Amino acid sequence: QLPKQVTIREVGPRDGLQNQSEEVATADKVEWINRLSETGLRYIEISSFVHPKWIPQLKDAREVAGAIRRDPGVTYAALVPNRKGLGAAIEKNVDEVSVFMSASETHNQKNINKSITETYPVLEEVVQEAKQAGKTVRGYVSTVFGCPYEGDIDPEAVFRVSERLLEMGIDELSLGDTIGVADPKQVDEFLTAMSGRLPFSRTAMHFHNTSGMALANVLVSLNHGITIFDSSLGGLGGCPYAEGASGNLATDDLVHMLSRMGIETGIDEEKLADAAAYIQEKVHGELPSHRVQIANRK
Ligand code: HMG
Ligand code: MG
Repeated sequence: QLPKQVTIREVGPRDGLQNQSEEVATADKVEWINRLSETGLRYIEISSFVHPKWIPQLKDAREVAGAIRRDPGVTYAALVPNRKGLGAAIEKNVDEVSVFMSASETHNQKNINKSITETYPVLEEVVQEAKQAGKTVRGYVSTVFGCPYEGDIDPEAVFRVSERLLEMGIDELSLGDTIGVADPKQVDEFLTAMSGRLPFSRTAMHFHNTSGMALANVLVSLNHGITIFDSSLGGLGGCPYAEGASGNLATDDLVHMLSRMGIETGIDEEKLADAAAYIQEKVHGELPSHRVQIANRK
């Protein structure tokens, strides 16, 4: 039984751009986000309020947040690792903040410089303060299906971290296949194990397409009743603290597949293609999505 409707969270301006070796000008990011706002997408993760030394590509988060045109029908979100990041996000008036941590101890340490246990109280405070400031909060769990340092991850470790984030009061959970290793059977087994334990109606799957299995993993997730997916236009993306993490699942390929299957996303494919062509030119390289590849050959 497939759902009739799916919600897409566009993470390209954050997850996509955070891994670009070439700098993209602030004005170009702003223009890209403005174009994304016109495609019918209802959610755009615009940047991260993290330490500029850790993610130099997103050091202009404040400028970006201050300059984009806000469509009242779109939720503009940003990553925040701690109270300092939250303060900036509130000052810049983003609608939603995303906290993030990992199911794997080593990746957590490398990505945010803390153990899993040390991370909980930091995020707890952030979630509380964000709520007081009237923000909705998203909670990411990384390395759900595998870690670049530790290999296989026990689904129960994912459950423990997810449960803690839910207890803190996050509105939505996003489960990340950070390095794109998940296969459809693994996703099926994982979601079977989590059924009735995690709130699937507010759980998003965040697939990276490193091994080309992201769309297959989406199909499996749809069959489990998951209706929220994170993706990045053109397949731009990665995580600089997870070697081997390549582009996210491509928004344009995802929308195309869902549309062919008669599943509604509210997104205009032509406008999406235009926005993809725009950012492809700015990153000076071919974007990996199938839709962009087809367009490039024309
Ligand atoms: P730290 O060095 O442990 O921080 O970094 P600290 O609290 O010890 O502070 C050290 C200095 O950093 C201080 O400055 C702070 O003010 C400053 P000083 O007094 O030395 O001048 N500082 C900050 N500056 C700006 N913004 C902040 C901030 N916080 C402290 N928010 C920290 C800890 C978390 C800050 C650092 O590790 C960091 O920024 N990490 C970012 C990692 C990241 O963004 N990774 C990519 C996103 S996660 C991802 O891609 C996965 C995902 O897509 C899902 C999936 O695919 O799985 C979400
Ligand atoms: Mg990611």
